Amino acid sequence: MSEQIYALILAAGKGTRMKSNRNKVLHHVGGLPMIEQVLLQLQALQIEQIGVVVGHHKEQIIDELGDKVRYIEQTEQLGTGHAVKVASDWLRELQGTTLVLCGDTPLLTKATLTRLLDVHKQGRAACTVLTAVATDPTGYGRIIRDEQGKVIKIVEQKDASVEERKVQEVNAGIYCFDNKLLFEALEQITDNNAQGEYYLTDVVEIFNSQKHIVLPCVATAFEEIVGVNDRVALAKANKIMRARILEEWMLNGVTILDPDSTYIDTHVTIGRDVTIYPGVHLRGATTISNLATIGPNSEIEDSQVNEGSRVWQSVVIKSTIGQATQVGPFAYIRPGSVIGDNVKIGDFVEIKNASIGNESKVSHLSYIGDAEVGQSVNIGCGTVTVNYDGKRKHKTIIKDNSFVGCNSNLVAPVTVAENSYIAAGSTITKDVPNNSLAIARSHQINKLNYIKKT
Ligand code: UD1
Ligand code: CA
Repeated sequence: MSEQIYALILAAGKGTRMKSNRNKVLHHVGGLPMIEQVLLQLQALQIEQIGVVVGHHKEQIIDELGDKVRYIEQTEQLGTGHAVKVASDWLRELQGTTLVLCGDTPLLTKATLTRLLDVHKQGRAACTVLTAVATDPTGYGRIIRDEQGKVIKIVEQKDASVEERKVQEVNAGIYCFDNKLLFEALEQITDNNAQGEYYLTDVVEIFNSQKHIVLPCVATAFEEIVGVNDRVALAKANKIMRARILEEWMLNGVTILDPDSTYIDTHVTIGRDVTIYPGVHLRGATTISNLATIGPNSEIEDSQVNEGSRVWQSVVIKSTIGQATQVGPFAYIRPGSVIGDNVKIGDFVEIKNASIGNESKVSHLSYIGDAEVGQSVNIGCGTVTVNYDGKRKHKTIIKDNSFVGCNSNLVAPVTVAENSYIAAGSTITKDVPNNSLAIARSHQINKLNYIKKT
């Protein structure tokens, strides 16, 4: 049996530089909390169990991650070494490797983690540290090597000499450790440094003094290991993640007219020959099927747009759009809506918690809320389902092949049965039987010669 691998994500820190009431690792990159991005990469590896060290705003993290991980509480934030040490009861006696990561490195990839684990295993190391070469290493711990290239220690920015600060190879804050050796070494670290903290990085020097093997694993790109400590770094990380996501979709057959103004979250999926115009935001668990077109400035969240449909300058939230359907321009599809196939939802139409059957049309300026609209129904311009009596919401049912004339009010609860007509300008308060015409408006009176010629 191969050796067990455990993962420990550090997320107890204050994240002071973020100046936020949210825990740092819950700030979003690519539409997901940073710590979820780290977990996503870990998922692909054979990890026995994942632990998260929590402290500051711990309830926020537990709320977000639920029972996906094991929690270890660090009541006082005394440094990264101390943060790992609190997991001692769990890991100390376990035979195996622990992968230590930080919750604030959202750009890390599973490919790099796999390589780190391989280097560690092949080299039979006590510690393998992920490093990267930075153009500007400010703020990171520096990797100090000897003439043979061996990593002898890691020095934090604040403790580094002028010479050491010139080193461009930095510590990613991501490591593999032999469990037993790690927890033995943690007994020896002190807080005798510029920040008065227990540094995890001090373990490297301890291992070297004990003649244990410490290996470096250099990440292919610095951007992978970016640690997000403030909102400037958060914006940069989002930019990199966004470019990555867009590139992946473009390589999979999606046309993105202007990647600089297109925003697609991590969990979105997109089919082939989809075209995305500038200013589009695709959020949450959204799916766009083959041949769909998403027009400029549309926002689609937690929704499905099926094959060949076109959403144009519109907002769609928690809803489903069928096949070959047209939405917009300027439509607002609110949560709980199910729009069928070959439907037309035109300009300034709001649909909320309503189903619209295949081949139906709501072409302009209407509000359809809490409704069930059948197939091949035509809803005229300016129709309103009057769904709210000030206290409760009521349902409107309009059955197949019915025709609702312009500027009608359908006061719910009300049903219009199949094949019926509502005369334009009606206020319908009673059910309409099938095959009928309902007229609910006052008669027109023409007052002849009302305007007297002088
Ligand atoms: C750390 C490393 C540094 C590395 C950098 C990479 C140390 C001493 N320094 O510095 O060498 O270049 O990461 O991004 O390890 N945390 C706790 N409990 C604590 C302190 C921190 O859980 O008591 C957590 C934080 O929530 C964070 C992570 O550990 O997720 C790293 O802490 P942070 O303060 O960001 O360390 P850096 O100064 O960035
Ligand atoms: Ca950091």
